[in-house]
Amino acid sequence: MATASPPSVRSLHKSFFPKSPRLPHNSHFRSPRWRSSLRSRCPIRATSAVALEPESSTQRNQNMETDLFACPVCYQPLIRKGPPGFNLQAIYRSGFKCKKCNKSYTSKDVYLDLTVTAGLRDYTEVKPARTELFRSPFVSFLYERGWRQNFNRSGFPGLDEEFKMAQEYFKPTEGGILVDVSCGSGLFSRKFAKSGTYSGVVALDFSENMLQQCYDFIKQHASLLDSNLALVRADVSRLPFSSSSIDAVHAGAALHCWPSPSNAVAEISRILRSGGVFVGTTFLQYTSSTPWMVRPLRQRILQNYSYLTEEEIEDLCTSCGLTNYTRKVKQSFIMFSAQKP
Ligand SMILES: C[S@@+](CC[C@H](N)C(=O)[O-])C[C@H]1O[C@@H](n2cnc3c(N)ncnc32)[C@H](O)[C@@H]1O
Repeated sequence: MATASPPSVRSLHKSFFPKSPRLPHNSHFRSPRWRSSLRSRCPIRATSAVALEPESSTQRNQNMETDLFACPVCYQPLIRKGPPGFNLQAIYRSGFKCKKCNKSYTSKDVYLDLTVTAGLRDYTEVKPARTELFRSPFVSFLYERGWRQNFNRSGFPGLDEEFKMAQEYFKPTEGGILVDVSCGSGLFSRKFAKSGTYSGVVALDFSENMLQQCYDFIKQHASLLDSNLALVRADVSRLPFSSSSIDAVHAGAALHCWPSPSNAVAEISRILRSGGVFVGTTFLQYTSSTPWMVRPLRQRILQNYSYLTEEEIEDLCTSCGLTNYTRKVKQSFIMFSAQKP
């Protein structure tokens, strides 16, 4: 039995992100800030000295190393066995294992299932209606075919504008890893991946059917199949990443659907590295122009969702240790951003 020596920063980066992202000439990708961010991420993959079994001839061409993904039970980086690369094909052909919990994770159909319940045969868990609604194949199918466009009536500026606004907030994280939490059918994940701004994009959702839609849309763009894009099933309250390992987290129109917004924001804060940025959009419970008399009524009607007020969202971010809170509001639409100090 041999003990693997920790790989160098350069070899780790090459094996995880073999394709160079299309970065702007003046990007931060090669800046000292980016390098220090990579260094701070590398212990995740390199610190656990992994005892490797002797390789058989069929395994010879496969890599076995600690991964960006972590066990959702204990948050230890997973050991990955399979071809290197942070793209759909390489991840589908890889197996992931937590050495501590002795739990294995594989890509089921089109996504890597990193929920705590992955692989369980008897236990099933039902989430609140606002989460379960989006697990339906019907809603998942309709989502990008009309459902999402309806949000514009409440003040959402539309996908292109929302993407542009988010990219502005994410400027300090260029060249890093972006997780699109609660990505739905992947409408923003695809834009983030296509932009070439990030070295890796993780499209993450709890809904199996949303992830299927995500994959179906990705398949229509050949270049995306080879890009640095991963599809992961996970619960926002149990994100499968080590602490301080992620540069950017996006959560579009999602906070009101989460079972516990406070647990979710705490998780997002945990996985962000120092200087990392969180950008979210949601519907506000009411706006300054909503008459006082209508407000309690709105709250009662909308009780199936966690629609928060502007003050509550800021409070939540601040109480989870995020700073530099800022927001843009139009009618019920809010885009907010906060940073990990
Ligand atoms: C309204 S959709 C937003 C989709 C997309 N981000 C957008 O901007 O349109 C809300 C998403 O939150 C996901 N979601 C709900 N509960 C979740 C949970 N516990 N963990 C992760 N995602 C969840 C749903 O599956 C759904 O895809």
